[in-house]
Amino acid sequence: MQCRFLGVLALTGLATADVVPTAPNIDVPFSITQYWGAYSPYYNAGNYTAPPEGCTVTQVNLLERHGARYPTSGAGPLIQASAEKLKGAQSFNGSQYGFLSNWTYQLGTDVLIPFGAAQSFDAGQVHYTRYASLVNSTTLPFVRASSSERVVETALNWSAGFAFASDKALPSPPPLSVTLDESRNDTLDNHMCPTAPTSQNQTAAWTNVFAPPIADRINNAAHGAHLNSTDIVNLLQLCPFETVAFEKPSNFCSIFTQDDFKGLEYYIDLDDFYSTGYGNPLGPVQGVGWVNELIARLTVQPVQDETQTNSTLDGSPKTFPLNRTFYADFTHDKTMIAIFSALGLFPQTENLSTSHPDAERTWFASRLVPFSAPMIVEKMDCDGTPSIRILVNDLVQPLTFCGARDGMCTVDNFVESQAYARTNGNGAWARCLG
Ligand SMILES: *[C@@H]1O[C@H](CO)[C@@H](O)[C@H](O)[C@H]1NC(C)=O
Ligand SMILES: *[C@@H]1O[C@H](CO)[C@@H](O)[C@H](O)[C@H]1NC(C)=O
Ligand SMILES: *[C@@H]1O[C@H](CO)[C@@H](O)[C@H](O)[C@H]1NC(C)=O
Ligand SMILES: *[C@@H]1O[C@H](CO)[C@@H](O)[C@H](O)[C@H]1NC(C)=O
Ligand SMILES: *[C@@H]1O[C@H](CO)[C@@H](O)[C@H](O)[C@H]1NC(C)=O
Ligand SMILES: *[C@@H]1O[C@H](CO)[C@@H](O)[C@H](O)[C@H]1NC(C)=O
Ligand SMILES: *[C@@H]1O[C@H](CO)[C@@H](O)[C@H](O)[C@H]1NC(C)=O
Ligand SMILES: *[C@@H]1O[C@H](CO)[C@@H](O)[C@H](O)[C@H]1NC(C)=O
Ligand SMILES: *[C@@H]1O[C@H](CO)[C@@H](O)[C@H](O)[C@H]1NC(C)=O
Ligand SMILES: *[C@@H]1O[C@H](CO)[C@@H](O)[C@H](O)[C@H]1NC(C)=O
Ligand SMILES: *[C@@H]1O[C@H](CO)[C@@H](O)[C@H](O)[C@H]1NC(C)=O
Repeated sequence: MQCRFLGVLALTGLATADVVPTAPNIDVPFSITQYWGAYSPYYNAGNYTAPPEGCTVTQVNLLERHGARYPTSGAGPLIQASAEKLKGAQSFNGSQYGFLSNWTYQLGTDVLIPFGAAQSFDAGQVHYTRYASLVNSTTLPFVRASSSERVVETALNWSAGFAFASDKALPSPPPLSVTLDESRNDTLDNHMCPTAPTSQNQTAAWTNVFAPPIADRINNAAHGAHLNSTDIVNLLQLCPFETVAFEKPSNFCSIFTQDDFKGLEYYIDLDDFYSTGYGNPLGPVQGVGWVNELIARLTVQPVQDETQTNSTLDGSPKTFPLNRTFYADFTHDKTMIAIFSALGLFPQTENLSTSHPDAERTWFASRLVPFSAPMIVEKMDCDGTPSIRILVNDLVQPLTFCGARDGMCTVDNFVESQAYARTNGNGAWARCLG
């Protein structure tokens, strides 16, 4: 059965009633978008709940992925080539291919798109509304971004939304105080471990499982297109990329079934898991630098780290203050995956199979790192005891590594639990340097 657009999804996923979202709704069924993995527009994996009785939030640590973007400069030409192969078929059997005669590739590369900017602005509004009691015109969020244009623009749009929601209580947006250079030491990017293996073998193995029957089906209908498995992965991705770029459902979505998208979903889950997640021996260590910065902020103690931090920046109160109530950092998906894995979030009992997706896994990229994904570490005062909880896409995480069942953990126990970060990844960082 081919996909049908069954209903309207509010792609913004905003849960806060008194915020007027600016990102448009796109008429795509949720049943497809949740299978877009890291290309899913943000949706909340849970509804935000107030802290438990007796606890007051005293500090917020936000780590947010950039909003929706065009395909990267590496992926874009490959996606275009696969689409041109399909368009070049001698004849088509099926009305869902009719659009191709008039289709051309019109996506840009790398940068944030208007939908991504709007979602970042909306996220700023939600976060101001939720945490207004922690900020005023002299205690603004301290904002950092990795230096990619799309990450910087996400930070600026978030800040604009944050100030907008304050209804002039904040006369101007929080400034972007630190931009971390992606060619230097940078805890908001994952470029510093060149010896880490890639996920290529695992994604290729899964592609060989799920894509050949799809290629056969489409080649039967598109005579002479000669699509292979790689083309199928590329064409599946064109559905989310065109949808978010043009803010209407891409025609490419209609040539695939829901099961086809489940294949794409697992492809992206594997890519994340084996690139910087638990499946990569040098994945989690690439999140250690940020975790050590988090520990510094939670304990109000200087940063202790020998991985990705820039000690010059982190040693100065101008570029790494410890007296703020709100820290906002903007980053990339693979970096967030490394940080989740360094922290111990989304633990897996075994490494993900490259042939049989486990439906019970907790590792779904669309719930970990959709476009504009936020992780928030709330520090709280709970009847005098400093405590934390961690929300990923608004879902409170269980923090089993901290002995917590309800997601609450004392700061002391949390720091204790982070031995992996505090030892520079049990020494794994040395192997990143060759
Ligand atoms: C949030 O709450 C609404 C209303 O109760 C419910 O429909 C929705 O499923 C909840 N969302 C999540 C992700 O739990
Ligand atoms: C077109 O596809 C349908 C099944 O979807 C098939 O029954 C029919 O024979 C095909 N026609 C041609 C000309 O290939
Ligand atoms: C082809 O695309 C152009 C530009 O997007 C549009 O103006 C035109 O109406 C389309 N023609 C058909 C037959 O869909
Ligand atoms: C801003 O908040 C800080 C800390 O809560 C407080 O000390 C300060 O007086 C506030 N400033 C204004 C202008 O309200
Ligand atoms: C934080 O400390 C610096 C001095 O290091 C001071 O200039 C600044 O006003 C303080 N900020 C807040 C929000 O207390
Ligand atoms: C928001 O992002 C867009 C790019 O999509 C950029 O042009 C714009 O300048 C950003 N807004 C702010 C306030 O920086
Ligand atoms: C650390 O940050 C400073 C200030 O931005 C910069 O000049 C320097 O190149 C950085 N060093 C490294 C190793 O990243
Ligand atoms: C990928 O597979 C090839 C061929 O089996 C092997 O030589 C290579 O070491 C593997 N790479 C990784 C990163 O596992
Ligand atoms: C699929 O075909 C393209 C050329 O159209 C080629 O570059 C690619 O390597 C092929 N992939 C596989 C798995 O054969
Ligand atoms: C999963 O893969 C990682 C990286 O290769 C390895 O360190 C770890 O031991 C594996 N875990 C299991 C349960 O096999
Ligand atoms: C940058 O990172 C490298 C690798 O961990 C480290 O050796 C170096 O001291 C760091 N530089 C600064 C300025 O922190």
